[in-house]
Amino acid sequence: MYVAPSILSADFGNLSSEIKKVCECGADLLHIDVMDGHFVPNLTIGPIVVEVAKKASTIPLDIHLMVENVGFFVDMFLPIKPKFISFHIEEEKHPLRLIDHIRNNGVSPAVVLNPHTPINSIKHIINSVDMVLLMSVNPGFGGQKFIPSVLDKIKELKELIYKTNSICMIEVDGGVNGLNVRDLDSAGADIVVAGSYIFSSNDYKASINSLKV
Ligand code: DX5
Ligand code: ZN
Repeated sequence: MYVAPSILSADFGNLSSEIKKVCECGADLLHIDVMDGHFVPNLTIGPIVVEVAKKASTIPLDIHLMVENVGFFVDMFLPIKPKFISFHIEEEKHPLRLIDHIRNNGVSPAVVLNPHTPINSIKHIINSVDMVLLMSVNPGFGGQKFIPSVLDKIKELKELIYKTNSICMIEVDGGVNGLNVRDLDSAGADIVVAGSYIFSSNDYKASINSLKV
């Protein structure tokens, strides 16, 4: 299992050292939650702070856009050259066009599904993305309770990936901890995002390791 700490739960007063710490403690990707106060009822960070995160990080960035007007925000973050930019399928009318645009700029495109959004909604784009992010909470805040119905969605997505010979990875975000990670692994997840579980622990190395099942 790859582990992507979400900096949303980090101490923003010491952001660079928090990021350096998770990198040293074995994190694989740095998950960055961009919220616009419209798509979700919370507002987080823009490119100035994400540049700071990139400088501090020795691992690739995984930018999760929770925004309306997706294309505008994609163009804002493409120059930072993260590994992934993911956008919510619920918000984009022309996902294939946007996916091509992200890829043509040297970034891996990914789509995100809210807990209520069916796997069927991405049936026709599964071969074009490098990752699908399944939300296991309603997006907007860290520290929420895991929604277990995501486990069936992972299995369904895994089947779709298999049937279509897709090579895309499955990432899960929200309420992940050392207890539910085994179920996520058995269902077929490749990457877990974890915010509060890692940053509220007093041993980042131990909490990251406990997710590497
Ligand atoms: C929620 C964000 C998550 C969040 C996860 O909208 O997308 O990445 O930071 O936080 P935890 O792991 O605390 O649920
Ligand atoms: Zn996220």
